Amino acid sequence: MPTPHIESKKEDIAKVVLMPGDPLRAKMIAEKYLDNPRLVNSVRNILAYTGTYKGKEVTVFSSGMGNASIGIYSYELYKFYDVENIIRIGSCGSFKEDVRLRDIIIVQGACTDSNYAHQYELPGTYSAISDYSLLEKAVEKAKEKNLTYHVGNVLSSDLFYHADNKADKWIKMGCLATEMESYALFANAAYAGKKALTLLTVSDSLVTNEETTAEEREKTFTAMMEVALEIA
Ligand code: HPA
Repeated sequence: MPTPHIESKKEDIAKVVLMPGDPLRAKMIAEKYLDNPRLVNSVRNILAYTGTYKGKEVTVFSSGMGNASIGIYSYELYKFYDVENIIRIGSCGSFKEDVRLRDIIIVQGACTDSNYAHQYELPGTYSAISDYSLLEKAVEKAKEKNLTYHVGNVLSSDLFYHADNKADKWIKMGCLATEMESYALFANAAYAGKKALTLLTVSDSLVTNEETTAEEREKTFTAMMEVALEIA
């Protein structure tokens, strides 16, 4: 069942999809965690692999960056490949001093500066939220693993570079961090009647301007991926 952006056969995509932004991260996750991973998509180098984790079939499918890109892949996976759950695993920039580098954010809701929900022609503003059953399981796993985690709202921006510190007003509204994909993912899940969740590790801070080293990032990404794989 190829689509304009996915060449996979329907049976090559699992019902549960883990979605990192970076294609090479998808490859790394598949090689490190999945048994018998096989490459199932490489259109535009958006790499995707399917294999098993503790006996359960899982696909790791990269999203690319931004609401526009994840919007395309999640739409096609939900609509044409009968995917039920998509768990985004990504990074974010912290908006708060107590949301520190390497902490994990289990995303409850996503605000946006994007016009993504305009397509639904709603008579108001759509609140994009994650699926509660997935969120609850992620919280249980994070507790079990003794991880430092936060649950709350994020800004899912079309911008990485905000002119004139325009992100400040989102900080005032209590957003924990900024990333670029959850709003479109959650909106697509709602529209398709499916489930989505985002797990983020804090890779940089817009408050303290600290940054993590590649090695440090790797460690927390590992913890986050294990949570995602275990709840998938
Ligand atoms: N902004 C948006 N997306 C991000 C950031 C950021 O600062 N860090 C990691 N992903």
